[in-house]
Amino acid sequence: QAIYSAGMSGSRPTVPTDYAALEAAAEKAMSEEAYAYIAGGAGRESTMSANRRAFERWRIVPRMLRNVEERDTSIELFGRRLDTPFVLCPIGVLEMAHDEADIAVARAAAARGTPMLFSNQASRSMEECAAAMQRVRNDAPRWFQLYWSKSDALVESLVSRAEACGCEAIVVTLDTTLLGWRSRDLDLAHLPFLLGQGIAQYTSDPVFRASLSEVPDDGPRPKINTRTLRNVIAAARHYPGSSLRALTSGQALAAVRQFIATYSRPNITWADLAWLRERTTRPIVLKGILDGDDARLAVEHGVDGLIVSNHGGRQVDGARASLDALPEIVAAAPDLPVILDSGIRGGADVFKALALGASAVGIGRPYAYGLALDGEAGVGEVLDNLAADFELTMALAGCSDIATIRAGATRLVRDEH
Ligand code: FNR
Repeated sequence: QAIYSAGMSGSRPTVPTDYAALEAAAEKAMSEEAYAYIAGGAGRESTMSANRRAFERWRIVPRMLRNVEERDTSIELFGRRLDTPFVLCPIGVLEMAHDEADIAVARAAAARGTPMLFSNQASRSMEECAAAMQRVRNDAPRWFQLYWSKSDALVESLVSRAEACGCEAIVVTLDTTLLGWRSRDLDLAHLPFLLGQGIAQYTSDPVFRASLSEVPDDGPRPKINTRTLRNVIAAARHYPGSSLRALTSGQALAAVRQFIATYSRPNITWADLAWLRERTTRPIVLKGILDGDDARLAVEHGVDGLIVSNHGGRQVDGARASLDALPEIVAAAPDLPVILDSGIRGGADVFKALALGASAVGIGRPYAYGLALDGEAGVGEVLDNLAADFELTMALAGCSDIATIRAGATRLVRDEH
């Protein structure tokens, strides 16, 4: 309502309400490298555009005369009541967008009680983010997103730190055992730089730090030679908000090397989930599910929730749109919360995802652009705009709450044109 009145008052918002305008404004506010990293997708970006096309193919059939004066956009997720059906997707290397990076996002999320998913590739440690959230609102909801490292000891350490700093769920991202073919980043040759800006969860970890003394001088250097690495680390440390500044250049070099050598375990399988299950009492959520059979396997392996996602089109170019995968996944895992991300850009997208069975949606690039434009306030505006847009769409479509949308009270039809 406040946003609507502001619009009526004739003052222009700092953060555009239209997604295309938001992206264009953020592009102007960022370095070429930062924009390429955030906006880019894998390969020829066909999955990125498929995500949008999937939303466009569905049309809402609004229903009339249903009394939508009282509206409720809240949901319950893992025992928590949330005012809006949103979670903030984990986004790594936010230092590229804004000096305050994850901290600004943490404050905006906490003020709204929206769960923030701390990225494994964050620019600020989970403890710093949790403390920032805690200062805004006691028990503001947060989850931790894990990339499953080769080092069992590091995985155990990350998970126990996440529990200690109040993370209410452990999200295992499955679609990034290897980094996708990111043409924009490859052509700017800044991937090593990005790695340096996104390793705060590691450099703040006691197990990881102890392992640095074991990295020999000419230790693992997959494809990146030491001179290149030294140069990019010097550049990364020069960056005003860089978390690498707290380290000596020798420590930074060892950290980036060790990170490259251990961050991922491409040999994980379904059987490994039991190991994680024994090490956390928090709900385990799998991110990156796109197949109904995988959803069934997740149920069989005792998982607590799913995120249907193609990583915003950044991993398998040519992968199906995540919205297209949603109905079969909801059918295969009817008792699990299913969150949908990849392509949510406005209120109608949220409505469509919920109508197709999602329990909530994940917001990705839009909040990163808000961050780039105006830090904490920018993230907040993006979230408030999306909430207002969604509430209007819900009401005008003839639904006064989310249970009504999910029960199919308003139909979606396929666009034949
Ligand atoms: C991501 N994503 C991501 N996912 C994850 O599990 N861990 C991570 O560290 C990151 N990092 C990351 C960086 C950037 C710049 C982007 C754009 C995305 C994927 C993210 O969580 C989410 O799945 C997508 O962003 C959703 O798609 P849209 O809404 O951005 O299109």
